[in-house]
Amino acid sequence: MLRRVVVTGASSGIGAASVRRFAELGWRTVAVARRADRLAALAAETGAYPVVCDVTDEAQVADLAREVAASGGADALVNNAGGALGVESVEHSRNDDWRRMFEVNVIGLRNVTAALLPVLRDGIRAERGTAGGPGGHGWASILNLTSTAGLAAYPGGGGYNAAKYAAHAVTEVLRLELAGEPIRVMELAPGLVHTEEFTLNRVRGDVEAARTPYENVTPLTAEEVARVLVGAFEQPPHVNQDLIVLRPVAQSSVFHVHRGPLEAKP
Ligand SMILES: NC(=O)c1ccc[n+]([C@@H]2O[C@H](COP(=O)([O-])OP(=O)(O)OC[C@H]3O[C@@H](n4cnc5c(N)ncnc54)[C@H](OP(=O)(O)O)[C@@H]3O)[C@@H](O)[C@H]2O)c1
Repeated sequence: MLRRVVVTGASSGIGAASVRRFAELGWRTVAVARRADRLAALAAETGAYPVVCDVTDEAQVADLAREVAASGGADALVNNAGGALGVESVEHSRNDDWRRMFEVNVIGLRNVTAALLPVLRDGIRAERGTAGGPGGHGWASILNLTSTAGLAAYPGGGGYNAAKYAAHAVTEVLRLELAGEPIRVMELAPGLVHTEEFTLNRVRGDVEAARTPYENVTPLTAEEVARVLVGAFEQPPHVNQDLIVLRPVAQSSVFHVHRGPLEAKP
């Protein structure tokens, strides 16, 4: 197998942690995001091949696909770029926020998947050629980072719920459409993860408000999510983990977060 993976949203949080974890396990990585300085630092640290690209821009994504093909191809894709904007009710939220969430979480995922599928297929054919035909080592993997917000609605979730439900649906459609090809389509839906920027962006830079969800609770870290994410790619290639739901123990549903120490009942 090529063991070369494209990770979008690699300039922070789960994406950056995933690039680090893939690199630790010997994968070659292509790190994609809009902030060049962050990608350069990650490239210097991990050996990742950095590509500056806004996943919502089709022309930039076409360039990304050309660059991935020209620099060694790929057999794996992580659609991780995404995020939330706002916690207002449906009634009081802003269409602009909804459009931006849909653009990055759904259209961006579609753009990158559509542009990279031919590159993944080229990788499969090349590997099968060298490995002696079907049954050889040519396989590809796609994993979409959705969220438990794509599986259960909550008040104030509005546009983010809608976008992640859509990303979940697109993942299921894709798996059906690729049936018969040696391409697995996986989904990772995390619950509460404390990353540096996710909630801060959601609450428009309000540092105090960004702390609230993580108070008196041990959330997941980006590194913990990355270990599970990369673990899905490390399974034998015919093993397809359709949907991985990952939460901290203290969070038993989107509505139930136990704050304070966890203790065995008497
Ligand atoms: N943190 C959580 O609690 C949580 C829970 C469940 C699911 N998730 C999902 O997990 C994924 C990663 O979340 P995170 O917590 O790691 O968030 P994060 O730290 O805010 O990272 C988001 C990444 O997406 C990139 N990005 C945003 N818009 C982009 C665009 N138009 N084109 C290319 N890259 C773009 C950002 O980089 P640039 O700004 O440099 O482009 C950044 O690297 C997201 O899809 C998020 O919805 C997060």
